[in-house]
Amino acid sequence: MRRFVCWFSILSLLIITTSSTSMADEGLWLPFLLEQHNQTRMQEMGMQISADDIYALNQSSMKDAIVLFGRGCTGSIVSDQGLLFTNHHCGFGSIRNHSTVENNYLDEGFWATNLKEELPNPGLTITLLKQMEEVTDSILKGVEPGMTEAQRDAMIKNNSERISKNAQKNSPYNAIVRAFYNGNQFYLIYTETFRDIRLVGTPPYSIGKFGGSTDNWMWPRHTGDFAVFRIYANAENQPADYSEENIPYKPAYHLPISLKGVSEGDFTLVYGYPGRTSVYLPSQAVELIAEATNPHKVRLRQQRLDVFDKYMQADPQIRIQYASKDAGVANGWKKMIGESNGVRRLDAINKKASQETAFVEWVHAGDENRKALYAGLLPSFEESYASLAPYALATDYMNEAGRAIELIGFASQFRFLYEASQEKDVSEAYIQSLIKRYEQRTESFFKDYHEPIDRGVAQKLLQLYLDYIPPDLRPAFVNEINLKYRGNIEAFVDALFTKSMFTNKNQILEFLSSYKPRHARRLLRDPAYSAANDISILYETRIKETRQRLTTSIDSLQRIYMAGLIEMHEGSYLYPDANFTLRASYGLVEGYSPADAVEYDYYTTLGGIMEKEDPNNYDYIVDNKLRQLFLNSDYGDYADDDGKMRVAFVASNHTTGGSSGSPVMNADGHLAGINFDRGWEATMSDLMYDPIQGRNIAVDVRYVLFVMDKLAGASHLIKE
Ligand code: ARG
Ligand code: GLU
Repeated sequence: MRRFVCWFSILSLLIITTSSTSMADEGLWLPFLLEQHNQTRMQEMGMQISADDIYALNQSSMKDAIVLFGRGCTGSIVSDQGLLFTNHHCGFGSIRNHSTVENNYLDEGFWATNLKEELPNPGLTITLLKQMEEVTDSILKGVEPGMTEAQRDAMIKNNSERISKNAQKNSPYNAIVRAFYNGNQFYLIYTETFRDIRLVGTPPYSIGKFGGSTDNWMWPRHTGDFAVFRIYANAENQPADYSEENIPYKPAYHLPISLKGVSEGDFTLVYGYPGRTSVYLPSQAVELIAEATNPHKVRLRQQRLDVFDKYMQADPQIRIQYASKDAGVANGWKKMIGESNGVRRLDAINKKASQETAFVEWVHAGDENRKALYAGLLPSFEESYASLAPYALATDYMNEAGRAIELIGFASQFRFLYEASQEKDVSEAYIQSLIKRYEQRTESFFKDYHEPIDRGVAQKLLQLYLDYIPPDLRPAFVNEINLKYRGNIEAFVDALFTKSMFTNKNQILEFLSSYKPRHARRLLRDPAYSAANDISILYETRIKETRQRLTTSIDSLQRIYMAGLIEMHEGSYLYPDANFTLRASYGLVEGYSPADAVEYDYYTTLGGIMEKEDPNNYDYIVDNKLRQLFLNSDYGDYADDDGKMRVAFVASNHTTGGSSGSPVMNADGHLAGINFDRGWEATMSDLMYDPIQGRNIAVDVRYVLFVMDKLAGASHLIKE
């Protein structure tokens, strides 16, 4: 039936063919191998274009319109003037930076009416992929079977540097070497990075983040999660630092936009920069994540969120201060809950275990060479993950319990100043430049800091630290709660917050204003700094070495296991895990059933926004103008055939963090939506994909244009 089946989906495939209409295809595919491995299947599923339209080297293709946006999102170019679509949550930092009380773009939205009004964003970049070529043989030159991991790494690092330097010499582009398949394959990647990226427009929070954290990771969804930027270049159409002289970038290709909408069963292609997946991990690793580290982190984050919530509910000022932190903590919290539930629902650990049994059988059916390479692998995994578990947890607690106390996290930033101060001939000018940076950090820290929240958080987190981590893997200050305070956490927290200067903005600014390197000692006497220091000491003395030894050995086992899997499945092609390189994933528009007796439709409408409206809940406020447009059914060309305004849809494309902002293309290769999330039932796809419930969520591009045109009046952009 299909020529290229991922081994890991064989079990799921049985389910697909025996139940439901789902035809989801797992996989994050390399765009230049689509023709070889996927084109037939994609066309079978309805695609009307060819692999060459998606990725070509000698002519322009869709790839020339796909960008890595910032450090962790995707964007797509939609005009010949470098206009770019991405998600509101991807542009959030830029939007917030431009927002003031007078010009509250976050709450009100923002639309530049001409090029001059577009807002520059220092530090924001977009990167285009120019070309990719395999260089595995040259990278592995000199790597011998008997080498230690360190020797191997050094050799590879050397080769990589030499190859990318050489490549760079003969090319106008950046060239870097990236590892695939856990270090079994290497590609040389040529990229071009633009540095003058301007904000063109954003809907208000009430549209761009409609549903907030409550709806996050959920379907049915009604978020207009998009923002519009523009790439600027110099007169030669080359990347340049921000300058008034720069002009809009002329891309080699831009995506045509479709107003046709999508229907159940339609082919979809998501093209972008997925960040990280780990679908080839052994069962022990999945168990560690799903049953140990996730539940601990979820419990810790739950405590923080509860405290945030209590204060945010009571005071609108605090709600603004903590909105961003709350969204960040909640995003990971909810993802991990979904992931662990999904792993259980899929029985992923047992499925992995039976795949391992099959692997062992394959090894034993082979020759001596195969046995020598792979026979010891699975017991070694078992041993390594068992040894790693306590250290993995201890590290999670350092971050999610120790440094998650904002006071301690803030104090820990001063370590750099302390260390600079210890250097023999550190210059006065250098120290002064550091002081400037620390003054800015202090201002921004206190802008969004509420001490009672942090005290409440500290209390809860330290209790969990004492409950779940053994004394020898706790930082010294946590042990002091028992040793000096007879287990009275409240008394300890009170002393910590009362005695530390890091709770007091003026005290720190004063400390900084008269700072001399010899004052560094004062940091050590501060209880918050010293707590932060205890965490570093714990890591250096108790965790680092063991953890590094174990992860190095696990990395090497994983690399060999991966090589074995590839060998075992010779003839079928296994896709490489995501690694922030350009990938294509394809699927169909389709609803799903998240639970017994529950069926989800594949799209949502503006009517649903009205149903969710709650003027007393910031996340469910409806813009007045939007309500009017709804009441008048004033949707212009953007309505669906039934006259309704569609907002979002789900499809079965394999996506992950980083896929945010990716274009969702229809069978003709036209833009139909912008990807921004996964359903809650899909979040375990980073570990194991579920074709039955795995869905990505996209905002319908017609809603995007409707908001730009009808709500914002940005008709000049629509024309463009
Ligand atoms: N869950 C989506 C993604 O990681 C969207 C996150 C932003 N939205 C939010 N309400 N926090 O990452
Ligand atoms: N919202 C995610 C991001 O920012 C994408 C959703 C996902 O993880 O699938 O990349």
